[in-house]
Amino acid sequence: MMILTNKRIYIERYGTVTSTNDLLKEKASGGAPEGTVIIADAQTAGRGRMGRRFHSPAGRGIYMSILLRTEFSGDEVCLTAHAAVAVAKAIEKQTEKAVFIKWVNDIYIDGRKVCGILTEKASDYVIVGIGINLREPEDGYPDELRSIAGAVFGKDSDYDADRLINDILIEFFKDNADLLGDYRARSMTDGKRILVRQGNTEYYARALGIDESFGLRIALRDGSETILRSGEISVSVRETDGDNK
Ligand code: BTN
Repeated sequence: MMILTNKRIYIERYGTVTSTNDLLKEKASGGAPEGTVIIADAQTAGRGRMGRRFHSPAGRGIYMSILLRTEFSGDEVCLTAHAAVAVAKAIEKQTEKAVFIKWVNDIYIDGRKVCGILTEKASDYVIVGIGINLREPEDGYPDELRSIAGAVFGKDSDYDADRLINDILIEFFKDNADLLGDYRARSMTDGKRILVRQGNTEYYARALGIDESFGLRIALRDGSETILRSGEISVSVRETDGDNK
């Protein structure tokens, strides 16, 4: 997929903002060019998928949004997958740890979510928002995140946030000839028991793999198979692989 048509990137850095996605939306409406990237030290109203908030304390993460105009070919899911692979590859350059992608757009290390991606589309632009936990906050994560969230780097390890940002942008703005292969190689749900959430409905299933359009192939309890398309669906990987309860 052709990611950037004009091949120019315009990086703007901020201290604290509400949400880099929201700020970039304003700028996009005001005519900001494709390739505008907003990076903030902290967010007071960082947003995640499905109305969740994204905890964004100062000095502990990368909070970044990228503006593309509609010239890009491919759909939102494909773009989100492309961003997830770009982040995973950039992280892999700085850590020995195995980096996984949890369908559709979360990055996991050691069983904990270290990055989320929020792609938002308007009629004439798309914003890809990337939030990465680099290091655990001094006072830990808020209660609701404590069992899920983790950080890319340990308390005492050195890291270079600017290098990571740079590597992410290089990967993101490069065409990826084997996006599906790169995504599948890191997919963490394959063969696992998962809990699927869609609106008020929840059910258990087994994840089979990622299809050609980045849908999640699942086996239901009655033995039938179906494919989940991202939208308003989320999945959790079950710790135990026992009953279908
Ligand atoms: C998720 O986990 O559901 C997605 C989280 C996306 C967070 C990033 S941080 C930068 C950008 N600005 C936001 O308000 N959200 C995204």
